[in-house]
Amino acid sequence: MLGLTTSFIGRNIHYEESVESTQKIAHRLASQGVPEGTVVIADEQKSGKGRMNRNWHSPKYTGIWMSLILKPNIPLTKAPQLTLLTAVAVVQGIEEITGLIPEIKWPNDILIAGKKVTGILTELQAEADQIHSIIIGIGINVNQKQEDFPLELQEKASSLFIETGKTISRAELIRCIFMHFEKLYTLYLEKGFMPIKLLWEGYAVSIGKIIKARTLTDVIEGEALGITDEGVLKIEDQSGFVHQVYSADIEL
Ligand code: BTN
Repeated sequence: MLGLTTSFIGRNIHYEESVESTQKIAHRLASQGVPEGTVVIADEQKSGKGRMNRNWHSPKYTGIWMSLILKPNIPLTKAPQLTLLTAVAVVQGIEEITGLIPEIKWPNDILIAGKKVTGILTELQAEADQIHSIIIGIGINVNQKQEDFPLELQEKASSLFIETGKTISRAELIRCIFMHFEKLYTLYLEKGFMPIKLLWEGYAVSIGKIIKARTLTDVIEGEALGITDEGVLKIEDQSGFVHQVYSADIEL
């Protein structure tokens, strides 16, 4: 139906009209041993999950709400690299379908004209240092109108429809993202993170700027120096100390 050009990403699709969260279903399927590249897609999520225990607004038919199951043979510490890889694949897909030039705010927000159009949530199934599966949740605001967003999101969220003035085919965008994702993931498995890091840096907005990073326990302010080879953000504070930040919300 999607006219896929991939060989394993999205070849096994689990579609539901309405779910609590595609992440929840993907976790269950991953435990049952579905093949790598399996994707759970829903038209609506009643309790979409965002990072840092937030909700993700996922109204019916307007966005892409999907979770991708991967089984890479990499150590646990390298899992953040796949969040960055996913952000690049989504940016490339959005660029190709809409002509817009999105930016990435570390680690996983995709912005257009400074407003968030996509969030990525990476969750792991692991034992000791061994990854069993990585579940990558991708939420893309595609055809929402401004008034479809709850009031508290209207200032900071946008959709591809709002930014282009055109209705975008969700199926076409999904197909395109799968194609970019598979190319990047194959490159990553063959050559490692370096080529992905270079691409990511080309889209990143936060690097070289003075930023504030809010972690669950701390606020770190300083210059964003870049990312490590693991995909972790380095911030140099006023005293010259370089912090390594694994997960945070960034204020530019
Ligand atoms: C963020 O907070 O920026 C991450 C948002 C991730 C939302 C996606 S939508 C599909 C998948 N299922 C969920 O419940 N969450 C992710």
